[in-house]
Amino acid sequence: MSERFRDSIALVTGAAQGIGLAITRSLASGGAVVYGADMNFDGMKESAAALIEEGMKVHPLHLNVADRASCEEAVKTVSERSGRIDLLVNNAGITKDGLLLRMKPEDWNAVLSVNLTGTFNVTQSVIPLMVSRRFGRIVNIASVVALMGNPGQANYVASKAGIIGLTKVTAKELASRNITCNAVAPGFIQTAMTAKLNDAQRERMTSVIPMKRLGEPEDVAKAVAFLLSEEASYITGQTLSVNGGMYLF
Ligand code: NAI
Repeated sequence: MSERFRDSIALVTGAAQGIGLAITRSLASGGAVVYGADMNFDGMKESAAALIEEGMKVHPLHLNVADRASCEEAVKTVSERSGRIDLLVNNAGITKDGLLLRMKPEDWNAVLSVNLTGTFNVTQSVIPLMVSRRFGRIVNIASVVALMGNPGQANYVASKAGIIGLTKVTAKELASRNITCNAVAPGFIQTAMTAKLNDAQRERMTSVIPMKRLGEPEDVAKAVAFLLSEEASYITGQTLSVNGGMYLF
């Protein structure tokens, strides 16, 4: 274990699996106390138990980021148990794909509610704690498709582009309180979200990645850890792409 995040208190949403779990592991193995929050509480408890077994400090929390009361409750729990939140990672996200012409309004609303409003809900609940201590590091998980567009994902792309905008405003409003906020835009990463793809789709995807492989959750976790670390203390409002070169701008 390293000492990179020693004594830091972190909240990671969507931490039960995939990228959120890799981020949780990375922060906890750097010495942080990590509250892993997920709507899938059974999965969250199982993942936390495995990390605790390895000697890490991880507390599972039940959280639905789309539900404002649930966000406030989760933040209150962390505040009561640990007194503060230093590091926040807004990672929880869902897809409900469909072509624009046929997209059901409920699928539009569901994706916007979790991905974009969820990020707003958790951030707004956490920042009073950060402001009062004049310290905070926030990373929001966006996506490469927010930058390049993607047919069949109007709701998801709009939510992730919204996250990039929200990141910039959060950065500008809170910079004077020593709170940074950045986004990470992953390309195609090997998780349950991309496991839905068939072989042909996977092959097509790999062919447009100059590094000729999908990313691993750990590739994203390393970028997130950097933006949360002391080394990135003068970086704010940025979007860092982790995409194997598939989209350059
Ligand atoms: P995943 O589907 O494996 O994990 C997402 C986690 O979020 C799950 O544990 C799920 O229970 C949780 N979650 C879903 N809705 C929630 C809610 N309302 N409240 C709390 N937790 C909730 O997904 P993955 O691939 O790990 O994605 C993580 C983030 O990375 C998402 O924001 C996703 O949009 C983003 N991303 C993923 C990419 C990929 O290729 N896998 C590419 C670009 C971005």
